[in-house]
Order: sequence, then C-alpha cells, then structure tokens
Amino acid sequence: MIIIKNARDISGNISDVFLQSDNEKEVNAQGLTLLPAVIDPHVHFRTPGLEYKEDWRCGAKAAVRGGCTTVFDMPNTLPPTFTKTLLEEKKSLIDSQLSEVDIPLRYELFFGADKKHLHEISGVREDAIGIKVFMGCSTGNLVMDDDESLHAVFSLAAKENMLVAVHAEDEQLLRTKKAAYQGEMQYHVHSALRDIEVATCAVEKAINLSRQYGTRLYILHVSSAEEIALIAAAKREGLSVYAETTPHHLFLDTSCYAALNGKAVVNPPLRDVAHRGALFAAIRAGIIDTIGSDHAPHTLEEKNKIYGECPSGMPGIEFMLPLLLNAVHQGELDLSQVVSLTSSRAQEIFKLPAHDDVVLVDLAHTAKVENTASKCGWSSYMGMTLTGWPMYTVMKGRVFRL
Ligand code: DOR
Ligand code: ZN
Repeated sequence: MIIIKNARDISGNISDVFLQSDNEKEVNAQGLTLLPAVIDPHVHFRTPGLEYKEDWRCGAKAAVRGGCTTVFDMPNTLPPTFTKTLLEEKKSLIDSQLSEVDIPLRYELFFGADKKHLHEISGVREDAIGIKVFMGCSTGNLVMDDDESLHAVFSLAAKENMLVAVHAEDEQLLRTKKAAYQGEMQYHVHSALRDIEVATCAVEKAINLSRQYGTRLYILHVSSAEEIALIAAAKREGLSVYAETTPHHLFLDTSCYAALNGKAVVNPPLRDVAHRGALFAAIRAGIIDTIGSDHAPHTLEEKNKIYGECPSGMPGIEFMLPLLLNAVHQGELDLSQVVSLTSSRAQEIFKLPAHDDVVLVDLAHTAKVENTASKCGWSSYMGMTLTGWPMYTVMKGRVFRL
C-alpha cells in the first residue's frame, strides 16, 4: 500500500490517498497537488532502427520526469511498424529496454498505414491502439498521398472499429508549394512552405472520410485557428472527430526560429503567435481534446544541418506538464483543463483500462529547464523558467522521486 499524506486535489481539498501496491511506502505530500499521471498519446521513441536519436531507456526516464506513465509510440521507425510481425517484434524490443532500466512504463503502439501493407490492418486490432496515417511526408517514408489509399484505410479501419490518427498535411499541395518557391532556404521558410492551407486541406479531407465511412478520427498536432474551425464544425455535426495539440504549438511560435534555428523545425511547423491564443481558446472551449508531446528527438548534429537537410521534430515529453502547469500559474488554463488534456480525454477516446497512476506536483516551485533525460540531450525549452513541477510520479505501485 502507498499512503500519500495530505495530498491536495485540484479543488484544493486535502486528504490522505491510498494506492494499491506490493510496496509499503508513505509519501509526505504536504503542499503538493495530486493529478492523474500524464498519458502522452504521441511519442517517437525510435525503436527499432533509430536508437541513436532516442530509445526506450532514455525515453522512459524522460517520461517519468514529466509525470507521464503511459505513451503511445508512432510507427515511423526503421523498418516502419506496418505488419503484425513488426508490431510484435517492436514490443519485445521495448520490453527488454524497459526492463533494463526497471521502469514499468505503460505503452501502446500505432500501426503505420502503408500502401503495400493495407491487408495487414484486418489482423492488428488487438495489437495496436490505432492506425497512423501520414497524409504528407515527414520523418521516414510512410506516406498515404493518394485518395484511393486513404479511402481504403478509412473504410478498413471503420470495419475493424479502429481509430485513425492523421498527420494532416496534404502531400500534393506541399509539393506544389515547394516547387513554386524561389526564395532563400532558411529555417523560417519551413512555416511558409508547409502553410496553413497545407494543413486545412488535409484536415478537411480526413473529416470527409470520417463522415463517409463512420471512422473514428484523431487529428494529431493541431496547430492553427483554421484547423480548429473545421474540427469545431465536425464536432457540432456529431462526428467522432478528436483533436490533439502539442506543447511546441502552444508555447512556441515563428518568432522562435531566430534563437532556435533548426531546432524549431517541426512538422506541422510552428505558426505565428496569434495561433497560440486560438489553441488555448480551443482547449477552454473543449474543441481540443488532448495534448501529445510529439516527442521526436534528432541529434544536435542533425538539427544543426542547413535547412533542407535538417530533419523535423523536437523532444517534448519531459517538459509538457511543467509548461502546462506554468500556463496555469499564468492564468491561461485551470487544473481541470490540464487533467482533461493530459489524461481523462485520452482515457475516454482510446478506451484505456483504468489504473491509479498519479503525479504529485508542486504548483509553487519555480525552476529553470537545465537538463534532459532524452538521449538527444537538448530541448527547445532549455533556459526557460517555469512555475509548477512534478515531484513524484507513481507508476504501477512504484514511487519515483523526481
Ligand atoms: O516534426 C515531426 N517529427 N513531425 C513528424 O511528423 C515526424 C516527427 C519525427 O518522427 O521526427
Ligand atoms: Zn509525431
């Protein structure tokens, strides 16, 4: 049994909390607030094949430090996770890495939609949390850039009652924009090339497919006011459409290229500052359901390459909760919105079994982002001062003091 003494809940009530465990442990939670542990529905922990960027040993440590005990991993690995066998092999690689560091991280895997492996979808319902569709090219070479394949995936997924998670950037439109562009190739051009039309074109297409086949649709990393408007309309219509945003789209914007250079390059790209306000408003209005870190590490050497060679993606799992708690401190969100974003909506949308993992946070603790457990060794948030930090993560009856 774990006894958490004097824990405050999100309404401010203080009580002792008892959690099932084989361990006997008492935690003094005086001054701390108890939240459900974070569920991060969007990480790239890079196993198999890309472990030089990140692996499950470091990724799990970064998760615990971020108050997170459940992650959903993406399929754009080497090879990509596009068969049942590859899903099974990936699971055993993950299990052995997690046992090496003795962290019982909960995880689920996304199956990667690939034109040549669509027949595999009918056999993976029990093995995958959903089907990931890259509507535009990003890291790796999983892409579904033609309507016929998209129709096939949405229809197969609906038959299997599987959720489709989309990276909504339209590949054809993106190619047209890249071909027409003649200016200098600097990092900030990334946001101009992969512009909002590239995103809305794909979001619109995905919503139409969800309507046509009755497919449950999860729109990953929503970054703009225009996407929010389309999603709000789909929700009003009663479609099963859910939206995720990311810490980098909430807390960074195009002004960050000046300091971050290649580190700021992500897909979909950072947007102008006004979109951040629209994302916060969409969270408060319940249009955005979840936050996923889109933890996508690359080495510093890779991120320092010139624009065009620098891969897209940044780490995020470790600082997602502190960034959100800092937003609470600044009055932009309240704690119930943070709980909904980081745990309860994901629990509902993905129908996860209940458990009692928790995180104890100190809402008054102010500290600088100074180091990271991620294998890549860098963070876009380095040097930021944040108020609100996790102090203990409780995972499967184990207490991790942070
Ligand atoms: O920025 C991104 N990085 N966006 C993606 O879609 C993929 C990810 C990665 O795997 O690096
Ligand atoms: Zn991603």
